[in-house]
Amino acid sequence: MSVRDVLESVIKRITVFKNKDALYPEFIPPILPHRETHIKQLAEIFKSLITYPGSASLRAMLVGGVGVGKTVTARVFGNEIKHLAKEQSIDLRYVHVNCHRDRTLYEVISEIIRQLAIPIPLRGLSPREMMIALLSYIEKHNIYTLITLDEFDYFIHTAGNDSVYFLVRLYDEYPDVKKRLNFIFIARDITALSTLDPTTESYILKHLIKFEQYKARELYDILIQRRDLAFYEGTVDDEVIRFIAGNEGVDKGGEGNARSAIEVLLLAGEAAEHEGSHKVSLEHVRKALSVTHPDIIKVSDELNFLQIHELLLIKALIRTLRARAAPFVRIGDVEEEYRYICQLHNIKPRKHTQIYEYVNNLKHMNIVNAKLSGKGLRGRTTLLSIVAPLDALEKRIDELINKKLNTNRDTL
Ligand SMILES: Nc1ncnc2c1ncn2[C@@H]1O[C@H](COP(=O)(O)OP(=O)(O)OP(=O)(O)O)[C@@H](O)[C@H]1O
Ligand SMILES: [Mg+2]
Repeated sequence: MSVRDVLESVIKRITVFKNKDALYPEFIPPILPHRETHIKQLAEIFKSLITYPGSASLRAMLVGGVGVGKTVTARVFGNEIKHLAKEQSIDLRYVHVNCHRDRTLYEVISEIIRQLAIPIPLRGLSPREMMIALLSYIEKHNIYTLITLDEFDYFIHTAGNDSVYFLVRLYDEYPDVKKRLNFIFIARDITALSTLDPTTESYILKHLIKFEQYKARELYDILIQRRDLAFYEGTVDDEVIRFIAGNEGVDKGGEGNARSAIEVLLLAGEAAEHEGSHKVSLEHVRKALSVTHPDIIKVSDELNFLQIHELLLIKALIRTLRARAAPFVRIGDVEEEYRYICQLHNIKPRKHTQIYEYVNNLKHMNIVNAKLSGKGLRGRTTLLSIVAPLDALEKRIDELINKKLNTNRDTL
């Protein structure tokens, strides 16, 4: 191939993405499904920024686990209220400081000054002098600020009680000035606050907004929004989205983490693109999951301890999942395939009750997922699924089956 051919084949490669940026962590979506009530609570707390600006220094604390939307909610709210203020001719600026990066008092105040683009020469000033310069500048130019201190636990830990006190209770010293600094604090849990003195702690905790881990159906809505923004129409079926949401949802044993769910969607899309596929398949998702959740692959150690019939059952499940191209398949269909495979190898298949025990065991070892179906024509049935990439798993299972068949043929 000439260099030109190579270039062209890369540039013109089939892609499922119309705008991949919408799947990157920096992307701020236009609306946040399932965070409406949180934004409403923020609006209640900060409304006097618009109605009576300067009357009080307002604050809220956002708390919740990994990837539950704390940062993005603060940013979206900050942007909206900034625009609303502008319509009322109020110069409200939103500042977002990540205390994981800037964790000393000096770093946090200089970052605030930098983001506000205030022309104060910082060199040689103490944090207190910087703060006074900042306050007088925003007083002179009639500026209000909403400042998010994200990953605030790092600041508490590194800067300590006195710095926290200085930053958040500044106006105790100047009760009569207009209050131009307002705060959103963000942390994963509130235990970090317990090292503060009780008044500062209760000052910060005055308005606590809790962010719950996402359920599967909530992640589904979040992922559908991203799919529509990032992928060409028809390249990712709803079923694929449901499969990802089902793996991450807190009600399905996942972490309820939107970041990780979106990352799986991105990686699945990249796997499809890499293969030159026009569609993102369930197998692409399984491959993506094995990257984001490496423990899924670790299963392969435990495979060594399985009995031959368990291995054959997994093999049957893999084949049925692939043939149906479905995230879950009925246990009856898997049993049928299992009996067929037994026949091929000239092995006597086990009875249904025994199969059921194998399934329970495999479920216990997290190799297989099992759940009850909704009520169908023939009542409820058990549905089975596998999260690990089928291709890699099947290869390993085949090796183990062959090994077992060759060594102890007589005992089967
Ligand atoms: N309700 C939602 N709608 C759309 N996207 C969301 C929603 N919640 C979270 N996300 C997305 O999920 C990712 C993680 O969210 P975010 O960064 O806000 O989590 P976090 O709670 O700050 O987590 P951490 O504690 O790890 O910092 C981001 O890409 C964000 O845009
Ligand atoms: Mg965050």
